[in-house]
Amino acid sequence: MQYSDLLIETHGKVAVIRLNRPKAMNALNDNMMNELGDALYKFDADSNINCIVLTGSEKAFAAGADIAAMANYNYQDTHGGNYIGRNWEHILNIRKPVIGACAGYVLGGGCELAMMCDFLIAAENAKFGQPEIKVGVTPGAGGTQRLPRTIGKSKAMDMLLTTRMIDAAEAERTGLVSRVVPTEKLIEEAIAIATQIAAMPVSVAMQIKDAVNRAFETTLTEGVRYERRYFHAGFGTPAQKEGMSAFLEKRAPKFDGL
Ligand code: HXC
Repeated sequence: MQYSDLLIETHGKVAVIRLNRPKAMNALNDNMMNELGDALYKFDADSNINCIVLTGSEKAFAAGADIAAMANYNYQDTHGGNYIGRNWEHILNIRKPVIGACAGYVLGGGCELAMMCDFLIAAENAKFGQPEIKVGVTPGAGGTQRLPRTIGKSKAMDMLLTTRMIDAAEAERTGLVSRVVPTEKLIEEAIAIATQIAAMPVSVAMQIKDAVNRAFETTLTEGVRYERRYFHAGFGTPAQKEGMSAFLEKRAPKFDGL
């Protein structure tokens, strides 16, 4: 598939997917979300790739769903017509780690898409917000659910009801992002972090991702049982043999292909 709204690069075992609608602040439209799903599934299935970085431009990760495309939808178009939502959640099916690297505006559906990544790195110029109320709708891709679970109810309600944007420093303080880096170094840093992850055994990275996500869907006791099954199963894998032998032999582990 040729992509018109994405740019793709690979750096060793790291794939970088860049949202690319510069004239519209990377507003997320149906085509872009279809392309994003396609690219994510391809890299998830590609044994040469262990980690994916999702990013936008220096001005905008994405300023939300495409308002021009949505403005004339009616209820039947959105609910019955299978427009918005259908292709937004492919990212949740991806088993390899996906790092969101956010600069500039990360608004509305852009913030919701970012929150579907496994963790976020923010450029110093990043601004996060859920301004949907100002265009007369609620968030539609998890903003009312993932934001309060991530930054707490009070700050989430403040952002959702007033449309207040938070900057990168506040986003890091609240746990929305894991690190803040100089804006001009965002991609370099994101690739460096992804390269570090890509050197780990991808099978274990996928298990950790699955187990952490399970924490949000189940009780603590069930979650710990779920984790333990992966831990026990690990002892039947080459990654465990290599990792523990390397430690005991005082050498660096070689996890290629594991
Ligand atoms: C369509 C958009 C857009 C959007 C920006 N643009 N955001 N087009 N949908 N969400 C376009 C503008 O129309 C303009 O196009 C160009 O990008 C540059 O934007 P400006 O407004 O001129 O830039 P600036 O003054 O710097 O302001 C930037 C901004 C503002 C603060 C990001 O554009 C803005 O508030 N955008 C809308 C943010 C928003 O409400 N997002 C939530 C959408 S609802 P032209 O052609 O005029 O140059 C949503 C629901 C999610 O996301 C549902 C998920 C299922």
